[in-house]
Amino acid sequence: MNDNAAQHDETADDVNADLQDRVNNRSHRPSSENFKEFMTSNWEPRKDLGIVAGDFASFTVARREALSAHFPGERLVVPAGGLKVRSNDTDYRFRPHTAFAHLTGFGTDQEPDAVLVLDPQFDESGAPTGHESILFVRPLADRKSEEFYADSRYGEFWVGARPTLEDVTRLTGIHAAHIDSLSDLLAKDLGPGHVQVRVVPQADEQVEALIETLRLEAGLDTSSAEVRNELAEIDAKLAEVLSEIRLVKDEWEIEQMREAVNQSLAGFAEVVKNLPRAVAHRRGERVIETVFDAHARLEGNTVGYETIAAAGDHATTLHWIINNGQVREGELVLVDAGVEVESLYTADVTRTLPISGTFNDVQRRVYQAVLDAADAAFLAAVPGNKFSDVHEAAMKVIAARLEEWGLLPVSAEESLAPEGQQHRRWMVHGTSHHLGLDVHDCAQARREMYVDKVIEPGMVFTIEPGLYFKSDDLAVPAEYRGIGVRIEDDVLVTVDGNENLSAALPRRPEDVESWMADLLNN
Ligand code: GLY
Ligand code: MN
Ligand code: MN
Repeated sequence: MNDNAAQHDETADDVNADLQDRVNNRSHRPSSENFKEFMTSNWEPRKDLGIVAGDFASFTVARREALSAHFPGERLVVPAGGLKVRSNDTDYRFRPHTAFAHLTGFGTDQEPDAVLVLDPQFDESGAPTGHESILFVRPLADRKSEEFYADSRYGEFWVGARPTLEDVTRLTGIHAAHIDSLSDLLAKDLGPGHVQVRVVPQADEQVEALIETLRLEAGLDTSSAEVRNELAEIDAKLAEVLSEIRLVKDEWEIEQMREAVNQSLAGFAEVVKNLPRAVAHRRGERVIETVFDAHARLEGNTVGYETIAAAGDHATTLHWIINNGQVREGELVLVDAGVEVESLYTADVTRTLPISGTFNDVQRRVYQAVLDAADAAFLAAVPGNKFSDVHEAAMKVIAARLEEWGLLPVSAEESLAPEGQQHRRWMVHGTSHHLGLDVHDCAQARREMYVDKVIEPGMVFTIEPGLYFKSDDLAVPAEYRGIGVRIEDDVLVTVDGNENLSAALPRRPEDVESWMADLLNN
Protein backbone atom coordinates (compact mmCIF):
# COMPACT_ATOMS: atom_id res chain seq x y z
CA MET A 1 0.00 0.00 0.00
CA ASN A 2 1.56 3.38 -0.94
CA ASP A 3 1.32 6.50 1.19
CA ASN A 4 -1.43 8.01 -0.90
CA ALA A 5 -3.57 4.94 -0.40
CA ALA A 6 -2.88 4.99 3.33
CA GLN A 7 -3.87 8.62 3.47
CA HIS A 8 -6.98 7.85 1.45
CA ASP A 9 -7.93 5.02 3.82
CA GLU A 10 -7.47 7.18 6.88
CA THR A 11 -9.72 9.79 5.38
CA ALA A 12 -12.33 7.19 4.51
CA ASP A 13 -12.17 5.85 8.07
CA ASP A 14 -12.61 9.36 9.43
CA VAL A 15 -15.60 9.93 7.21
CA ASN A 16 -17.15 6.63 8.29
CA ALA A 17 -16.54 7.41 11.96
CA ASP A 18 -18.14 10.78 11.43
CA LEU A 19 -21.17 9.19 9.80
CA GLN A 20 -21.41 6.70 12.65
CA ASP A 21 -21.29 9.57 15.16
CA ARG A 22 -24.16 11.23 13.36
CA VAL A 23 -26.32 8.18 14.13
CA ASN A 24 -26.12 9.39 17.71
CA ASN A 25 -26.71 13.05 16.83
CA ARG A 26 -30.23 12.96 18.12
CA SER A 27 -29.19 11.58 21.52
CA HIS A 28 -29.73 14.00 24.40
CA ARG A 29 -28.28 11.57 26.94
CA PRO A 30 -25.78 13.23 29.30
CA SER A 31 -22.34 11.63 29.35
CA SER A 32 -20.77 13.10 32.50
CA GLU A 33 -19.19 10.91 35.19
CA ASN A 34 -21.81 12.20 37.64
CA PHE A 35 -24.59 11.03 35.39
CA LYS A 36 -22.93 7.64 34.89
CA GLU A 37 -22.52 7.24 38.65
CA PHE A 38 -26.16 8.19 39.20
CA MET A 39 -27.45 5.76 36.53
CA THR A 40 -25.41 2.81 37.68
CA SER A 41 -26.09 3.06 41.40
CA ASN A 42 -28.98 2.47 43.77
CA TRP A 43 -30.48 -0.60 42.13
CA GLU A 44 -31.88 -3.59 43.98
CA PRO A 45 -29.79 -6.75 43.56
CA ARG A 46 -30.75 -8.48 40.35
CA LYS A 47 -33.51 -11.04 40.54
CA ASP A 48 -32.86 -14.53 39.27
CA LEU A 49 -34.24 -14.85 35.73
CA GLY A 50 -35.75 -18.20 36.71
CA ILE A 51 -33.94 -20.08 33.97
CA VAL A 52 -34.06 -23.84 34.53
CA ALA A 53 -32.54 -26.82 32.70
CA GLY A 54 -34.08 -27.25 29.25
CA ASP A 55 -35.95 -30.51 28.63
CA PHE A 56 -34.08 -30.64 25.30
CA ALA A 57 -30.63 -30.92 26.90
CA SER A 58 -30.23 -34.71 26.70
CA PHE A 59 -31.34 -34.63 23.06
CA THR A 60 -28.87 -31.92 22.08
CA VAL A 61 -26.05 -33.98 23.63
CA ALA A 62 -26.84 -36.77 21.16
CA ARG A 63 -27.00 -34.30 18.26
CA ARG A 64 -23.57 -32.88 19.13
CA GLU A 65 -22.21 -36.41 19.41
CA ALA A 66 -23.54 -37.20 15.93
CA LEU A 67 -21.74 -34.13 14.59
CA SER A 68 -18.56 -34.91 16.54
CA ALA A 69 -18.34 -38.40 15.01
CA HIS A 70 -18.04 -36.90 11.51
CA PHE A 71 -15.04 -34.70 12.29
CA PRO A 72 -12.60 -36.36 14.69
CA GLY A 73 -9.74 -34.10 15.76
CA GLU A 74 -11.19 -30.96 14.14
CA ARG A 75 -12.48 -27.77 15.72
CA LEU A 76 -16.06 -26.98 14.70
CA VAL A 77 -17.46 -23.49 14.95
CA VAL A 78 -21.23 -22.98 14.88
CA PRO A 79 -22.24 -19.32 15.31
CA ALA A 80 -25.72 -18.16 16.27
CA GLY A 81 -25.19 -15.09 14.08
CA GLY A 82 -25.47 -11.45 15.00
CA LEU A 83 -28.26 -8.89 15.03
CA LYS A 84 -29.16 -7.69 11.54
CA VAL A 85 -29.91 -4.07 10.81
CA ARG A 86 -33.43 -3.51 9.53
CA SER A 87 -33.00 0.19 9.07
CA ASN A 88 -30.41 2.56 10.48
CA ASP A 89 -30.21 1.76 14.23
CA THR A 90 -33.19 -0.62 14.30
CA ASP A 91 -32.58 -4.36 14.14
CA TYR A 92 -34.69 -7.27 12.96
CA ARG A 93 -36.00 -9.53 15.66
CA PHE A 94 -33.23 -12.06 16.30
CA ARG A 95 -33.46 -15.64 15.12
CA PRO A 96 -30.41 -17.86 15.67
CA HIS A 97 -28.87 -19.87 12.85
CA THR A 98 -30.68 -23.18 12.51
CA ALA A 99 -27.60 -25.33 13.14
CA PHE A 100 -26.92 -23.40 16.35
CA ALA A 101 -30.51 -23.84 17.54
CA HIS A 102 -30.38 -27.55 16.73
CA LEU A 103 -27.16 -28.19 18.64
CA THR A 104 -27.85 -25.99 21.68
CA GLY A 105 -31.64 -26.01 22.08
CA PHE A 106 -31.68 -22.21 22.14
CA GLY A 107 -34.90 -20.85 20.65
CA THR A 108 -36.77 -17.57 20.51
CA ASP A 109 -34.55 -14.46 20.46
CA GLN A 110 -31.49 -16.35 21.74
CA GLU A 111 -28.69 -15.53 21.67
CA PRO A 112 -27.16 -12.84 19.41
CA ASP A 113 -23.39 -13.21 18.81
CA ALA A 114 -23.15 -16.54 20.66
CA VAL A 115 -20.86 -19.18 19.20
CA LEU A 116 -20.86 -22.92 19.90
CA VAL A 117 -17.45 -24.53 19.52
CA LEU A 118 -16.87 -28.27 19.47
CA ASP A 119 -13.29 -28.42 20.66
CA PRO A 120 -11.43 -31.61 19.72
CA GLN A 121 -9.99 -33.74 22.52
CA PHE A 122 -7.05 -36.11 22.22
CA ASP A 123 -5.60 -38.94 24.30
CA GLU A 124 -1.92 -39.16 25.32
CA SER A 125 -0.94 -40.72 21.99
CA GLY A 126 -2.56 -37.82 20.15
CA ALA A 127 -5.54 -39.86 18.93
CA PRO A 128 -8.82 -37.93 18.84
CA THR A 129 -11.31 -38.84 21.58
CA GLY A 130 -14.32 -36.72 20.69
CA HIS A 131 -15.14 -33.09 21.38
CA GLU A 132 -15.84 -30.83 24.32
CA SER A 133 -18.64 -28.33 23.67
CA ILE A 134 -18.22 -24.74 24.78
CA LEU A 135 -20.84 -22.05 24.34
CA PHE A 136 -19.34 -18.58 24.00
CA VAL A 137 -21.85 -15.89 24.87
CA ARG A 138 -22.00 -12.20 25.61
CA PRO A 139 -23.24 -12.42 29.20
CA LEU A 140 -25.35 -9.88 31.01
CA ALA A 141 -23.30 -6.75 31.67
CA ASP A 142 -22.81 -5.47 35.19
CA ARG A 143 -25.07 -2.61 36.25
CA LYS A 144 -21.93 -0.60 36.87
CA SER A 145 -21.24 -0.66 33.13
CA GLU A 146 -22.23 1.99 30.66
CA GLU A 147 -23.67 -0.80 28.49
CA PHE A 148 -26.35 -1.27 31.17
CA TYR A 149 -28.16 1.96 30.33
CA ALA A 150 -26.46 3.42 27.25
CA ASP A 151 -26.22 0.58 24.71
CA SER A 152 -29.43 0.43 22.69
CA ARG A 153 -28.43 -2.84 21.01
CA TYR A 154 -27.37 -4.91 24.00
CA GLY A 155 -28.06 -2.88 27.14
CA GLU A 156 -30.48 -4.17 29.78
CA PHE A 157 -32.26 -0.79 29.86
CA TRP A 158 -33.07 -1.15 26.16
CA VAL A 159 -33.54 -4.81 25.32
CA GLY A 160 -33.89 -6.50 28.70
CA ALA A 161 -31.59 -8.71 30.71
CA ARG A 162 -29.60 -11.37 28.89
CA PRO A 163 -28.75 -14.64 30.64
CA THR A 164 -25.57 -14.88 32.68
CA LEU A 165 -22.95 -17.55 31.96
CA GLU A 166 -24.45 -19.64 34.78
CA ASP A 167 -27.93 -19.26 33.29
CA VAL A 168 -26.69 -20.43 29.90
CA THR A 169 -24.99 -23.50 31.38
CA ARG A 170 -28.06 -24.36 33.45
CA LEU A 171 -30.38 -24.01 30.45
CA THR A 172 -28.36 -25.84 27.81
CA GLY A 173 -26.16 -28.16 29.87
CA ILE A 174 -23.19 -26.79 27.91
CA HIS A 175 -20.22 -25.11 29.56
CA ALA A 176 -20.53 -21.37 28.89
CA ALA A 177 -17.64 -18.95 28.47
CA HIS A 178 -17.36 -15.21 27.77
CA ILE A 179 -17.40 -14.35 24.07
CA ASP A 180 -14.18 -12.39 24.59
CA SER A 181 -12.32 -15.67 25.13
CA LEU A 182 -13.44 -17.15 21.80
CA SER A 183 -10.44 -15.75 19.95
CA ASP A 184 -7.96 -17.50 22.28
CA LEU A 185 -9.58 -20.87 21.78
CA LEU A 186 -9.81 -20.48 18.01
CA ALA A 187 -6.15 -19.42 17.82
CA LYS A 188 -4.99 -22.63 19.54
CA ASP A 189 -2.96 -25.04 17.32
CA LEU A 190 -4.09 -23.19 14.20
CA GLY A 191 -0.81 -23.19 12.27
CA PRO A 192 0.01 -25.34 9.23
CA GLY A 193 -0.32 -29.05 9.94
CA HIS A 194 -2.30 -28.52 13.12
CA VAL A 195 -5.96 -28.58 14.06
CA GLN A 196 -8.41 -28.10 11.21
CA VAL A 197 -11.06 -25.43 11.89
CA ARG A 198 -14.41 -25.52 10.16
CA VAL A 199 -16.98 -22.76 10.50
CA VAL A 200 -20.59 -22.78 9.35
CA PRO A 201 -20.60 -20.57 6.25
CA GLN A 202 -22.62 -17.35 6.15
CA ALA A 203 -23.75 -17.62 9.75
CA ASP A 204 -21.64 -14.80 11.19
CA GLU A 205 -19.33 -12.63 9.06
CA GLN A 206 -17.42 -11.41 12.11
CA VAL A 207 -16.58 -14.93 13.27
CA GLU A 208 -15.46 -15.85 9.76
CA ALA A 209 -13.30 -12.73 9.63
CA LEU A 210 -11.82 -13.57 13.04
CA ILE A 211 -10.85 -17.04 11.86
CA GLU A 212 -9.30 -15.58 8.71
CA THR A 213 -7.23 -13.14 10.80
CA LEU A 214 -6.14 -15.88 13.19
CA ARG A 215 -5.10 -18.08 10.26
CA LEU A 216 -2.97 -15.29 8.86
CA GLU A 217 -1.40 -14.68 12.26
CA ALA A 218 -0.64 -18.39 12.56
CA GLY A 219 1.26 -18.25 9.28
CA LEU A 220 -1.36 -19.85 7.05
CA ASP A 221 -1.34 -18.13 3.69
CA THR A 222 -4.99 -18.02 2.62
CA SER A 223 -4.55 -15.62 -0.28
CA SER A 224 -4.42 -18.09 -3.18
CA ALA A 225 -7.62 -19.08 -4.93
CA GLU A 226 -6.70 -22.71 -4.39
CA VAL A 227 -6.47 -22.39 -0.60
CA ARG A 228 -9.61 -20.28 -0.43
CA ASN A 229 -11.56 -22.86 -2.44
CA GLU A 230 -10.25 -25.62 -0.24
CA LEU A 231 -11.33 -23.76 2.91
CA ALA A 232 -14.74 -23.02 1.38
CA GLU A 233 -15.17 -26.72 0.63
CA ILE A 234 -14.15 -27.64 4.16
CA ASP A 235 -16.81 -25.32 5.56
CA ALA A 236 -19.43 -26.46 3.02
CA LYS A 237 -18.87 -30.04 4.21
CA LEU A 238 -19.73 -28.92 7.76
CA ALA A 239 -22.94 -27.30 6.50
CA GLU A 240 -23.78 -30.49 4.62
CA VAL A 241 -23.34 -32.70 7.70
CA LEU A 242 -25.33 -30.26 9.86
CA SER A 243 -28.20 -30.59 7.38
CA GLU A 244 -27.94 -34.36 7.15
CA ILE A 245 -27.96 -34.96 10.92
CA ARG A 246 -31.40 -33.28 10.98
CA LEU A 247 -33.01 -35.60 8.42
CA VAL A 248 -34.37 -37.91 11.11
CA LYS A 249 -36.04 -36.10 14.00
CA ASP A 250 -35.64 -37.19 17.61
CA GLU A 251 -38.53 -37.64 20.02
CA TRP A 252 -38.29 -34.08 21.37
CA GLU A 253 -38.27 -32.61 17.88
CA ILE A 254 -41.35 -34.65 16.95
CA GLU A 255 -43.16 -33.18 19.95
CA GLN A 256 -42.21 -29.70 18.77
CA MET A 257 -43.52 -30.51 15.30
CA ARG A 258 -46.81 -31.74 16.74
CA GLU A 259 -47.18 -28.50 18.68
CA ALA A 260 -46.30 -26.38 15.61
CA VAL A 261 -48.82 -28.25 13.47
CA ASN A 262 -51.58 -28.13 16.09
CA GLN A 263 -51.12 -24.40 16.58
CA SER A 264 -51.20 -23.94 12.82
CA LEU A 265 -54.50 -25.80 12.58
CA ALA A 266 -55.94 -23.51 15.23
CA GLY A 267 -54.68 -20.58 13.14
CA PHE A 268 -56.55 -21.90 10.09
CA ALA A 269 -59.77 -22.06 12.10
CA GLU A 270 -59.24 -18.40 13.06
CA VAL A 271 -58.78 -17.57 9.37
CA VAL A 272 -62.09 -19.21 8.44
CA LYS A 273 -63.91 -17.37 11.25
CA ASN A 274 -62.60 -14.11 9.82
CA LEU A 275 -63.46 -14.77 6.17
CA PRO A 276 -66.50 -12.44 6.22
CA ARG A 277 -64.21 -9.66 7.46
CA ALA A 278 -61.74 -10.52 4.67
CA VAL A 279 -64.47 -10.33 2.03
CA ALA A 280 -65.57 -6.95 3.38
CA HIS A 281 -62.08 -5.42 3.34
CA ARG A 282 -60.48 -3.91 0.24
CA ARG A 283 -57.32 -5.89 1.06
CA GLY A 284 -58.98 -9.04 2.31
CA GLU A 285 -55.82 -11.10 1.84
CA ARG A 286 -54.21 -8.94 4.52
CA VAL A 287 -57.04 -9.83 6.90
CA ILE A 288 -56.19 -13.49 6.41
CA GLU A 289 -52.46 -12.87 6.79
CA THR A 290 -52.80 -10.83 9.95
CA VAL A 291 -55.31 -13.18 11.58
CA PHE A 292 -52.96 -16.13 11.10
CA ASP A 293 -49.84 -14.16 12.02
CA ALA A 294 -51.46 -12.81 15.18
CA HIS A 295 -52.29 -16.35 16.22
CA ALA A 296 -48.72 -17.46 15.49
CA ARG A 297 -47.29 -14.63 17.54
CA LEU A 298 -49.69 -15.20 20.43
CA GLU A 299 -49.36 -18.97 20.66
CA GLY A 300 -45.89 -19.57 19.25
CA ASN A 301 -42.81 -17.55 18.36
CA THR A 302 -44.05 -16.27 15.00
CA VAL A 303 -44.77 -17.67 11.54
CA GLY A 304 -42.23 -20.10 10.07
CA TYR A 305 -42.28 -18.20 6.77
CA GLU A 306 -44.27 -15.33 5.32
CA THR A 307 -47.93 -16.31 5.16
CA ILE A 308 -49.32 -16.85 1.67
CA ALA A 309 -52.90 -15.54 1.46
CA ALA A 310 -53.73 -15.85 -2.21
CA ALA A 311 -57.26 -15.33 -3.45
CA GLY A 312 -58.45 -15.99 -7.00
CA ASP A 313 -55.70 -15.81 -9.61
CA HIS A 314 -53.12 -14.87 -6.95
CA ALA A 315 -53.20 -18.53 -5.92
CA THR A 316 -51.43 -19.34 -9.17
CA THR A 317 -48.39 -17.36 -7.97
CA LEU A 318 -46.70 -20.01 -5.86
CA HIS A 319 -45.19 -17.76 -3.19
CA TRP A 320 -47.70 -14.90 -3.22
CA ILE A 321 -46.83 -12.99 -0.04
CA ILE A 322 -47.77 -9.45 -1.06
CA ASN A 323 -51.28 -10.34 0.08
CA ASN A 324 -52.84 -7.06 -0.97
CA GLY A 325 -55.69 -8.48 -3.01
CA GLN A 326 -59.41 -8.67 -2.53
CA VAL A 327 -61.12 -11.85 -1.32
CA ARG A 328 -64.19 -12.35 -3.48
CA GLU A 329 -67.23 -14.56 -3.00
CA GLY A 330 -67.29 -17.42 -5.48
CA GLU A 331 -63.49 -17.66 -5.78
CA LEU A 332 -60.99 -19.85 -3.93
CA VAL A 333 -58.41 -18.64 -1.47
CA LEU A 334 -55.17 -20.53 -0.99
CA VAL A 335 -53.74 -20.14 2.50
CA ASP A 336 -50.23 -21.51 3.04
CA ALA A 337 -49.17 -20.79 6.61
CA GLY A 338 -47.27 -22.31 9.52
CA VAL A 339 -46.74 -21.49 13.16
CA GLU A 340 -43.15 -21.57 14.39
CA VAL A 341 -43.12 -22.52 18.07
CA GLU A 342 -40.77 -21.12 20.72
CA SER A 343 -38.16 -23.78 19.94
CA LEU A 344 -38.24 -22.53 16.31
CA TYR A 345 -39.71 -25.69 14.76
CA THR A 346 -42.31 -24.84 12.15
CA ALA A 347 -45.30 -26.37 10.44
CA ASP A 348 -46.07 -25.76 6.76
CA VAL A 349 -49.72 -26.29 5.91
CA THR A 350 -51.88 -25.27 2.95
CA ARG A 351 -55.60 -25.39 2.47
CA THR A 352 -57.52 -24.01 -0.48
CA LEU A 353 -60.91 -22.78 0.67
CA PRO A 354 -64.06 -21.82 -1.23
CA ILE A 355 -64.64 -18.26 -0.07
CA SER A 356 -68.40 -18.52 -0.12
CA GLY A 357 -68.33 -21.89 1.63
CA THR A 358 -68.92 -24.31 -1.25
CA PHE A 359 -66.87 -25.35 -4.27
CA ASN A 360 -68.38 -24.96 -7.73
CA ASP A 361 -68.03 -27.86 -10.17
CA VAL A 362 -64.78 -26.90 -11.83
CA GLN A 363 -63.18 -25.84 -8.53
CA ARG A 364 -64.24 -29.16 -7.02
CA ARG A 365 -62.84 -31.07 -10.01
CA VAL A 366 -59.44 -29.43 -9.71
CA TYR A 367 -59.46 -29.73 -5.91
CA GLN A 368 -60.32 -33.45 -6.06
CA ALA A 369 -57.49 -34.11 -8.54
CA VAL A 370 -55.00 -32.47 -6.19
CA LEU A 371 -56.41 -34.40 -3.24
CA ASP A 372 -56.13 -37.67 -5.17
CA ALA A 373 -52.50 -36.82 -5.96
CA ALA A 374 -51.86 -36.11 -2.27
CA ASP A 375 -53.47 -39.39 -1.23
CA ALA A 376 -51.30 -41.28 -3.72
CA ALA A 377 -48.24 -39.52 -2.32
CA PHE A 378 -49.21 -40.54 1.23
CA LEU A 379 -49.31 -44.19 0.15
CA ALA A 380 -45.78 -43.85 -1.20
CA ALA A 381 -44.39 -42.01 1.86
CA VAL A 382 -43.38 -45.16 3.72
CA PRO A 383 -40.09 -46.60 4.95
CA GLY A 384 -38.18 -48.41 2.23
CA ASN A 385 -39.44 -46.22 -0.63
CA LYS A 386 -37.26 -43.42 -1.93
CA PHE A 387 -38.11 -39.79 -1.18
CA SER A 388 -38.53 -39.19 -4.93
CA ASP A 389 -41.18 -41.96 -5.09
CA VAL A 390 -43.53 -39.65 -3.19
CA HIS A 391 -43.31 -37.03 -5.92
CA GLU A 392 -43.62 -39.61 -8.67
CA ALA A 393 -46.80 -41.03 -7.14
CA ALA A 394 -48.37 -37.56 -7.04
CA MET A 395 -47.29 -36.75 -10.58
CA LYS A 396 -48.87 -39.91 -11.97
CA VAL A 397 -52.25 -38.74 -10.70
CA ILE A 398 -51.78 -35.15 -11.86
CA ALA A 399 -50.78 -36.26 -15.38
CA ALA A 400 -53.70 -38.72 -15.55
CA ARG A 401 -56.26 -36.05 -14.60
CA LEU A 402 -54.84 -33.51 -17.02
CA GLU A 403 -55.04 -36.13 -19.77
CA GLU A 404 -58.63 -36.96 -18.79
CA TRP A 405 -59.59 -33.28 -19.05
CA GLY A 406 -57.93 -32.99 -22.46
CA LEU A 407 -55.35 -30.48 -21.30
CA LEU A 408 -52.17 -32.39 -22.09
CA PRO A 409 -50.78 -32.08 -25.62
CA VAL A 410 -49.40 -35.64 -25.25
CA SER A 411 -50.52 -38.78 -23.42
CA ALA A 412 -50.06 -38.95 -19.65
CA GLU A 413 -47.45 -41.64 -20.21
CA GLU A 414 -45.46 -39.44 -22.59
CA SER A 415 -45.80 -36.53 -20.21
CA LEU A 416 -44.45 -38.60 -17.31
CA ALA A 417 -41.36 -39.61 -19.33
CA PRO A 418 -38.27 -37.55 -18.38
CA GLU A 419 -38.14 -35.87 -21.79
CA GLY A 420 -41.86 -34.97 -21.64
CA GLN A 421 -43.03 -33.44 -18.35
CA GLN A 422 -45.70 -31.26 -19.99
CA HIS A 423 -47.91 -31.68 -16.91
CA ARG A 424 -45.35 -29.69 -14.90
CA ARG A 425 -46.57 -26.51 -16.65
CA TRP A 426 -49.37 -26.61 -14.08
CA MET A 427 -47.29 -27.70 -11.07
CA VAL A 428 -43.73 -26.47 -11.36
CA HIS A 429 -42.82 -27.11 -7.72
CA GLY A 430 -41.87 -30.35 -5.99
CA THR A 431 -44.33 -32.44 -3.99
CA SER A 432 -42.32 -32.68 -0.78
CA HIS A 433 -39.58 -31.11 1.27
CA HIS A 434 -38.20 -31.91 4.69
CA LEU A 435 -39.57 -29.81 7.51
CA GLY A 436 -38.23 -28.88 10.95
CA LEU A 437 -36.32 -25.86 12.21
CA ASP A 438 -36.23 -24.56 8.65
CA VAL A 439 -39.39 -24.68 6.60
CA HIS A 440 -37.26 -26.17 3.83
CA ASP A 441 -35.19 -28.20 6.25
CA CYS A 442 -31.94 -30.06 5.60
CA ALA A 443 -31.45 -28.07 2.39
CA GLN A 444 -27.67 -28.60 2.28
CA ALA A 445 -27.97 -32.39 2.35
CA ARG A 446 -26.47 -34.25 -0.60
CA ARG A 447 -28.83 -35.51 -3.30
CA GLU A 448 -28.20 -39.11 -2.24
CA MET A 449 -29.26 -38.17 1.30
CA TYR A 450 -32.36 -36.26 0.20
CA VAL A 451 -34.14 -36.86 -3.13
CA ASP A 452 -32.56 -40.28 -3.66
CA LYS A 453 -32.60 -41.27 0.00
CA VAL A 454 -34.64 -44.17 1.31
CA ILE A 455 -37.40 -42.93 3.62
CA GLU A 456 -36.84 -43.70 7.31
CA PRO A 457 -39.02 -43.54 10.42
CA GLY A 458 -38.62 -40.17 12.15
CA MET A 459 -38.42 -38.15 8.94
CA VAL A 460 -40.88 -35.27 8.76
CA PHE A 461 -41.75 -33.78 5.39
CA THR A 462 -44.57 -32.14 3.51
CA ILE A 463 -46.87 -33.57 0.88
CA GLU A 464 -48.12 -30.64 -1.18
CA PRO A 465 -49.27 -31.27 -4.71
CA GLY A 466 -51.07 -28.51 -6.53
CA LEU A 467 -52.54 -27.38 -9.83
CA TYR A 468 -52.29 -23.79 -10.97
CA PHE A 469 -54.07 -22.43 -14.02
CA LYS A 470 -53.16 -18.80 -14.57
CA SER A 471 -55.82 -16.38 -15.75
CA ASP A 472 -53.91 -15.78 -18.99
CA ASP A 473 -53.10 -19.41 -19.73
CA LEU A 474 -54.34 -20.02 -23.27
CA ALA A 475 -53.41 -23.72 -23.06
CA VAL A 476 -56.47 -24.46 -20.91
CA PRO A 477 -60.19 -23.78 -21.43
CA ALA A 478 -61.46 -20.54 -19.89
CA GLU A 479 -63.31 -22.33 -17.07
CA TYR A 480 -60.00 -23.44 -15.51
CA ARG A 481 -58.29 -20.06 -15.70
CA GLY A 482 -57.65 -18.24 -12.43
CA ILE A 483 -57.91 -21.40 -10.31
CA GLY A 484 -54.99 -22.40 -8.10
CA VAL A 485 -55.22 -25.27 -5.64
CA ARG A 486 -52.60 -26.63 -3.26
CA ILE A 487 -53.21 -29.05 -0.39
CA GLU A 488 -50.25 -29.35 1.96
CA ASP A 489 -49.93 -31.65 4.94
CA ASP A 490 -47.05 -32.44 7.28
CA VAL A 491 -46.09 -36.09 7.49
CA LEU A 492 -44.23 -38.04 10.14
CA VAL A 493 -42.81 -41.33 8.87
CA THR A 494 -43.49 -44.18 11.30
CA VAL A 495 -42.04 -47.70 11.51
CA ASP A 496 -44.72 -49.13 9.26
CA GLY A 497 -46.12 -46.19 7.34
CA ASN A 498 -46.79 -42.57 8.16
CA GLU A 499 -48.86 -40.27 10.29
CA ASN A 500 -50.44 -37.15 8.84
CA LEU A 501 -49.68 -34.63 11.59
CA SER A 502 -52.15 -32.16 10.06
CA ALA A 503 -54.94 -34.72 9.53
CA ALA A 504 -57.27 -32.85 11.89
CA LEU A 505 -57.58 -30.07 9.32
CA PRO A 506 -60.28 -31.18 6.84
CA ARG A 507 -58.98 -32.16 3.40
CA ARG A 508 -61.88 -33.70 1.49
CA PRO A 509 -64.01 -31.05 -0.25
CA GLU A 510 -67.19 -32.02 1.59
CA ASP A 511 -65.32 -31.98 4.92
CA VAL A 512 -63.85 -28.56 4.15
CA GLU A 513 -67.34 -27.27 3.38
CA SER A 514 -68.95 -28.60 6.57
CA TRP A 515 -66.02 -27.47 8.73
CA MET A 516 -66.29 -23.96 7.27
CA ALA A 517 -70.05 -23.94 7.77
CA ASP A 518 -69.64 -24.96 11.42
CA LEU A 519 -67.09 -22.24 12.07
CA LEU A 520 -69.00 -19.53 10.25
CA ASN A 521 -72.36 -20.37 11.82
CA ASN A 522 -71.16 -20.59 15.41
N1 GLY B 1 -44.68 -22.54 2.32
C1 GLY B 1 -43.68 -22.82 1.39
C2 GLY B 1 -43.76 -24.19 0.91
O1 GLY B 1 -44.83 -24.76 0.92
O2 GLY B 1 -42.81 -24.82 0.59
MN1 MN C 1 -44.08 -26.61 1.82
MN1 MN D 1 -46.33 -24.28 2.31
